[in-house]
Amino acid sequence: MSEPAPTLAVIGGGQLARMMAQPAIALGLPLRLLAEAPGVSAAQVIPDQIVGDYRDLDTLRRVSEGCAVVTFDHEHVPTDHLHALEADGIAVRPGPEALVHAQDKGVMRERLAALGVPCPRNAIVADVADVEAFGLPCVLKTTRGGYDGKGVWFVRSAEDCAEPFAAAAAAGVRLLAEELVDFRRELSALVARSPSGQAAAYPVVASTQKDGICHEVIAPAPDLDPDLAGHAQEIALRIAGELGVTGVLAVELFETTDGRVLVNELAMRPHNTGHWTQDGAVTSQFENHLRAVLDLPLGSPAPRARWTVMVNILGGPDAEVGRLFDGYPHALARDPRLRVHLYGKDLRPGRKVGHVNAYGDDLEDCLERARHAAAWFRGDLGNESE
Ligand SMILES: Nc1ncnc2c1ncn2[C@@H]1O[C@H](COP(=O)(O)OP(=O)(O)OP(=O)(O)O)[C@@H](O)[C@H]1O
Ligand SMILES: [Mg+2]
Repeated sequence: MSEPAPTLAVIGGGQLARMMAQPAIALGLPLRLLAEAPGVSAAQVIPDQIVGDYRDLDTLRRVSEGCAVVTFDHEHVPTDHLHALEADGIAVRPGPEALVHAQDKGVMRERLAALGVPCPRNAIVADVADVEAFGLPCVLKTTRGGYDGKGVWFVRSAEDCAEPFAAAAAAGVRLLAEELVDFRRELSALVARSPSGQAAAYPVVASTQKDGICHEVIAPAPDLDPDLAGHAQEIALRIAGELGVTGVLAVELFETTDGRVLVNELAMRPHNTGHWTQDGAVTSQFENHLRAVLDLPLGSPAPRARWTVMVNILGGPDAEVGRLFDGYPHALARDPRLRVHLYGKDLRPGRKVGHVNAYGDDLEDCLERARHAAAWFRGDLGNESE
């Protein structure tokens, strides 16, 4: 009799957990989900589920019971609860000591400075006088709880600082000031690392944000100096090793106009800038995340094609005109090589509901195909004729 496969608990029912379910099926790995509400994205595809609050320790204990490992769809589980689960003897991956660097931008900045990792100039600010002393214009960020550009403000004057300070006070978190980086573009270096220390680095990609939300990713980053690409991968591997990250680590970077890379922030879970790997790499970031947290040998991060372009599908300002399943006949007929990933979410303005991947030998062609498809699902094309 062979041993049954270990059950993996996933905290959070968003699209990242949903997309972990695909390689879990292929590898025969049972998942148990903690969903924040019935019917959320991952709850639609993972039958073994509990609906509850990830801020409640008893709920976390119930979900973890009998599971080999606990991992995450998001970074919001309180650090103290993760320590409590570890004290119960549960393998939490990534562990709280590592995860805090993805949860708290102040802690992350302090640690990266100690490691000598290049970052934008930054300081914790307690009031407007501190911001003026730091230098305006600058970027203000809440140290915790931000996502998709929420919790990030570009400030030019003392008056601009009122809103960020009010938001930080209301949330009970600190405010971090950063120099306004004059970047050429944003890059992302994605690695997976297992508890035994095996690591795999994906090619460095270029990402574009719209209104603070990841919009488009090109893999690999076009015209990136190979030395700088190697340097970015080394930074990501070094951070993963030094912080003891287990699972996927995404290092968001700025490529400066004078040819350096600076670390923007860290994510310790599959990341939007790694969605291209589902179709464009030998092993997807979701599969390598599962392999890593279970301490299984990692799969190859090598690309399958010269180029892969990922474009997110977001609800437009008038979500009513968008189409998701309705958009299939045109999108699939127009481009038989297109890969579509929908998250089982309703279209709402600004909400990420899916993405498309297009890969091939010609970058312009991949860009056109992926952009066309994403615009079509969003409802930006063709409604005038309907
Ligand atoms: N110091 C900076 N200088 C210039 N632009 C910045 C700076 N910091 C952040 N930005 C811009 O704001 C975006 C969001 O910032 P950041 O990644 O810190 O926030 P977030 O809300 O945690 O993002 P995410 O959606 O990745 O969780 C960045 O992708 C970048 O475009
Ligand atoms: Mg970010």
